Amino acid sequence: MEETSLLRQSMCRAKGGAPGFKVAILGAAGGIGQPLAMLMKMNPLVSVLHLYDVVNTPGVTADLSHMNTSAVVKGFVGQAQLDNALTGMDLVIIPAGVPRKPGMTRDDLFNINAGIVRTLCEGVARCCPNALVTLISNPVNSTVPIAAEVFKKAGTYNPRRLLGVTTLDVVRANTFVAEVLGLDPRDVNVPVVGGHAGVTILPLLSQVKPPSSFTPEEVAYLTDRIQNGGTEVVEAKAGTGSATLSMAYAAAQFADACLRGLRGDAGIVECSYVASQVTELPFFASKVRLGRGGVEEIMPLGPLNEFERSGLEKAKKELAESIHKGVSFIKS
Ligand code: NAD
Ligand code: LMR
Repeated sequence: MEETSLLRQSMCRAKGGAPGFKVAILGAAGGIGQPLAMLMKMNPLVSVLHLYDVVNTPGVTADLSHMNTSAVVKGFVGQAQLDNALTGMDLVIIPAGVPRKPGMTRDDLFNINAGIVRTLCEGVARCCPNALVTLISNPVNSTVPIAAEVFKKAGTYNPRRLLGVTTLDVVRANTFVAEVLGLDPRDVNVPVVGGHAGVTILPLLSQVKPPSSFTPEEVAYLTDRIQNGGTEVVEAKAGTGSATLSMAYAAAQFADACLRGLRGDAGIVECSYVASQVTELPFFASKVRLGRGGVEEIMPLGPLNEFERSGLEKAKKELAESIHKGVSFIKS
C-alpha cells in the first residue's frame, strides 16, 4: 500500500505535478544560462523548469534531468518552440544575448541585445503575460525599458512584474566591503542603487550593515571596484566573455527571493532596477519588497552623504540617456 502511494507520488512528480513554481530560462545554454539552470534545478520551490535557447538546449536538458531533485526539466530550441517554452510560466529569467569583450561598454551590446530582448518579451506577452520577468541581458539600464515598452504595446504591462537583475552588484559590494572590514561576506549588506553600468552603479556605503565607517580612501577604492567589477572580470577573461558563474549565483539568489515572495513569505527585500518614483527617472534600482504581486513596495533611498549625493547626480544623467534609448528603440 505504502509502495503504491510512493510510486504514485513519483509519477505525479515526473508529470510536473509537484507543488512549486514553473520557471523558464531564456538563453539557458549560455555561460550564465547553464549554471543558473543547474541552481534552479536544485531549488525546491521549482516544480517545472523550461530551458529555452536558440542552440544546445537538448544536451543541457538531458544532462540536468539526471539530477535527483524534484523539478522536471524540459528543453526548447529555436524560435518555433518559444511559445511552448513560455506557456504557463510563473517566472521568466532572461540571460539571452551577447556578452562584452575587453574595451566594450555594456551599451555597445545594445544593437544586438535590444532585438533579442524585444522578441523574447513579445513571447512573454503572448504566452505568460502574468509571469514575473527578471532581465539579466545587458545593457540592463536599457533592456528593462525595452521590455516595458513591448508589454505596453501588447497591453500586458504590469510594472510590478518586471525586474532588472542588479543582484551581482550587491554580491560584489558585500564581498569587497567584507574584505576591507575583515568580516564574513554573508554578514554584510550593502544597498546598491541606480542602475547596472559604470557610474550608474551607486553603492551606499553610508548604509552598510552592520553599521561601519570607512576612510575617504576606502570609499574611493570600494566605489571604484564595485562600479567596475564587471570590467574586472571581462578583462580577466580576455575576450572569452563576462561574469557567468558569479552572475548565475546572483541570479539564482534573486530568483529564489522572487519565488519566496510569490509564495507569500514576508520581509523579502532585494535591490532591483524597476519602474520607480524614487527619483524623477521612470526606472531606478533600489531596495524593493517582493511579494505575491511581484514588487509590493519600493523603499526610499534613505539619507545620503555628500559623496553619494554627487554620485547620484552622475548616475541619473547616464541613466536618463540609457532609458531614453531603450524606449525609443520600441517607439520609433
Ligand atoms: P553567452 O553568450 O555565454 O550566452 C548567451 C546565450 O544567449 C547563448 O546561449 C545564446 O545562444 C543565447 N541567445 C542568443 N540569442 C538568443 C535568442 N534570440 N533567444 C534565446 N537565446 C538566445 O553570454 P552570457 O555570458 O551568458 O551573458 C548573457 C547576457 O547577460 C549578456 O548580455 C551579458 O552582458 C549579461 N550579463 C548581465 C549581468 C547582470 O548583472 N545583469 C551579469 C553578467 C552578464
Ligand atoms: C557584470 O556586471 O559582470 C555584467 O554586467 C557583465 C559585464 O559586461 O560587465
